[in-house]
Amino acid sequence: MTYEQTLTHMRTKLQRIAPDFEIEYKAKIAYEINQLKKERNAVILGHNYMEPALFHSVPDFTGDSLELSRRAAQTDADIIVFCGVEFMAETAKILNPSKTVLIPSQKAGCSLAASITAQDVRDLKARYPGVPVVTYINTYADVKAEADICCTSGNAKAVVESLHADTIIFLPDEYLARNVAQETGKHIIFPSKNGKTNGETMLDVQMIGWHGRCEVHEKFTVVDIEAVRHDHPDTLILAHPECSPEVVSASDFSGSTTALIRFVEQSNAPSYLLLTECSMGDNIIAAHPNKEMLRLCSVRCPHMNQIRLEDTRDALRYTQYEVHVPEEIRVRALRSVERMLAIG
Ligand code: 13P
Ligand code: SF4
Repeated sequence: MTYEQTLTHMRTKLQRIAPDFEIEYKAKIAYEINQLKKERNAVILGHNYMEPALFHSVPDFTGDSLELSRRAAQTDADIIVFCGVEFMAETAKILNPSKTVLIPSQKAGCSLAASITAQDVRDLKARYPGVPVVTYINTYADVKAEADICCTSGNAKAVVESLHADTIIFLPDEYLARNVAQETGKHIIFPSKNGKTNGETMLDVQMIGWHGRCEVHEKFTVVDIEAVRHDHPDTLILAHPECSPEVVSASDFSGSTTALIRFVEQSNAPSYLLLTECSMGDNIIAAHPNKEMLRLCSVRCPHMNQIRLEDTRDALRYTQYEVHVPEEIRVRALRSVERMLAIG
């Protein structure tokens, strides 16, 4: 694409959400990134939460955590630039030890991934010996290394069911665990660090959870939903399963970020409200100007928000910031990730 083609493409996508001077400024950077990408035989993976100017200009593939893990497993590029957060880039490295994996900012963490350590998982395994451990993909490599299998929001139910186990340890997202327990009809407990379990015996327990939460999705409440239903009765409300089970139950649909996008694409409501990171609503408007999104969301993930076009250009210019995973951890984490990817 020439610079003029890049600018035209970005104007078409972004005209409803950004002023023209901003689109022109960003198109120059996007053009440079696409040149660098060719020169360096790089692929750019962009999570659905990336800001619209980035999302609609430089990624070769966009998607949710599961789709991007699959893309990372298939690429033959020399360099993978992950426009997402650290645990996602780490997963790409786990799958591609010989490739250079770059994350454009070193500040792109995740409150869920930070909520649990490998030692916490070892302690739970010691307390519940023989119980299989599922860890959400939003965890760091050393935590994945302690697990039997990973899951994402797109396949959590399928992963839990694939284990055919009476009891499962499901970490670290409390709300996702509660939502999956509801979907699979399992009873869940959250043991405290001192080993107390509110009187439940192992006979009562089918899922053992943890107290991690996403700092973005925990903000949405049923009161918000009631207010929107009152003021905008025709609006469909879609919630990511990192929201509380009460919020998910009060919504019209719940699913991974890509499942939410597909739902909007395939239905015909007068308007939609997404209870998730708010750039995703803008990305949908950019791709589907005929869709009406309620712009009531101002909740941005502070970690995803670190990744801008400028950082992505610098990642390719200066080969920064390279993601490393110690080999002994990578090999064990790979088993959990590959086992997940093997599930359809
Ligand atoms: P998805 O896998 O649904 O894209 O979710 C990732 C995430 O971090 C949501 O907050
Ligand atoms: Fe983590 Fe929440 Fe940000 Fe997703 S939105 S990366 S779960 S902090």
